[in-house]
Amino acid sequence: MFQEHYSHFLGAHPNLLHFAAHSHHFWPDVSRAAQIQCWDDAARFADEKWAYIFDQILPRAQTHVARSIGVSEDRQICFAPNTHELLLRLISCLSPERPINVLTTDSEFHSCSRQLARLEERSNFSVQRVSSQPFETFSARFSDAAASTDFDMIYLSHVFYNSGYVVQDLPGIVSAVKSSDTIIAIDGYHAVGAVPVDISAIQDRVFYLGGGYKYLQAGEGACFMSVPRKCSLRPESTGWFATFSNLKTIPASGEHSVAYSDDAFRFWGATFDPCGLYRFNAVQELLKRLDLTPQKAHHYVQGLQSYFLEQMDKANHKYINRQNLLNSQLETQGHFLTFRFPEASEFFIELRRLDILTDVRDDRLRFGFGLYQVKDSIDELFSRLGN
Ligand SMILES: Cc1ncc(COP(=O)(O)O)c(C=O)c1O
Repeated sequence: MFQEHYSHFLGAHPNLLHFAAHSHHFWPDVSRAAQIQCWDDAARFADEKWAYIFDQILPRAQTHVARSIGVSEDRQICFAPNTHELLLRLISCLSPERPINVLTTDSEFHSCSRQLARLEERSNFSVQRVSSQPFETFSARFSDAAASTDFDMIYLSHVFYNSGYVVQDLPGIVSAVKSSDTIIAIDGYHAVGAVPVDISAIQDRVFYLGGGYKYLQAGEGACFMSVPRKCSLRPESTGWFATFSNLKTIPASGEHSVAYSDDAFRFWGATFDPCGLYRFNAVQELLKRLDLTPQKAHHYVQGLQSYFLEQMDKANHKYINRQNLLNSQLETQGHFLTFRFPEASEFFIELRRLDILTDVRDDRLRFGFGLYQVKDSIDELFSRLGN
């Protein structure tokens, strides 16, 4: 149905069953033309390239992100090559000289979990982790923790990378946070482009992060963060692009000498490769032309997931079965299904030999679904699995 738009990636792997859209999404053909356009614009504009990028390419990208996540103003969106850079910039708003107290979960992607673990080596940096499981009680348990004390920062995923579970009632969690000074960051990497996202109700309270590598189908280098309006934080990690918008803090004698933009630009870094933004815009504009709203794309993928579960129930496979499936409620599941069993790593290799690509995280095997798959791919999968 949508496969014609992925002819380059699909054509490069004619026999591969790619069940890893959640990990490295195939790129639509329009992103190739966009990448070439980026090169051509560099030649065309030469030294004046950045004016063109800031006038034309970036505003389009900001609009696409703002529309995708439900924030009101494009100027609330900043970009970075990866989400780790944005996380670091948020952490740098907290003074290293005083005790820092962070609330998070036990299911954050390595960019966050590794960074927090390293900072925890400081004597004045403490991290409290709430277990993502059992899923049914996660929001209540996390809200209770958030209400229990004044945290400097709260960081949680919208959709957990190691299960695909979609955290319910983000506004409820946000309203439970005890202190209005707490920085609240939500990692939406497995949400945006997959499940419909609308943070309008919490946009002035949370920093919402995401990126282009997965469901946004744009590859590397196009990560973003939405910043609450009226945010006055002054990240210590600050690049010179952070002054590129209207300056709020005009330096005056006796005041801070470093000024920041009065919008999301205050969280920018420095010179970056704009190619990811070209690809991102091209893909967003393709989806618009196809009238593929996030709701419609989600509906299509959920159809594939339901079909997968039906075929799985018939197949009676020793690993890929209901007992090993972490969450079978599709209404609370992102675009991959996770199976947990001790032999996951060995089975991943066995699948690879059958030209089936999934991915594995410890004892969890993940099957991802995307627009370039059809039900035949699922039939072929179970046929290759043998039963
Ligand atoms: C939940 C989540 N957040 C973030 C990322 C990417 O992090 P970074 O942009 O820092 O490489 C991933 C990548 O797999 C992820 O699964």
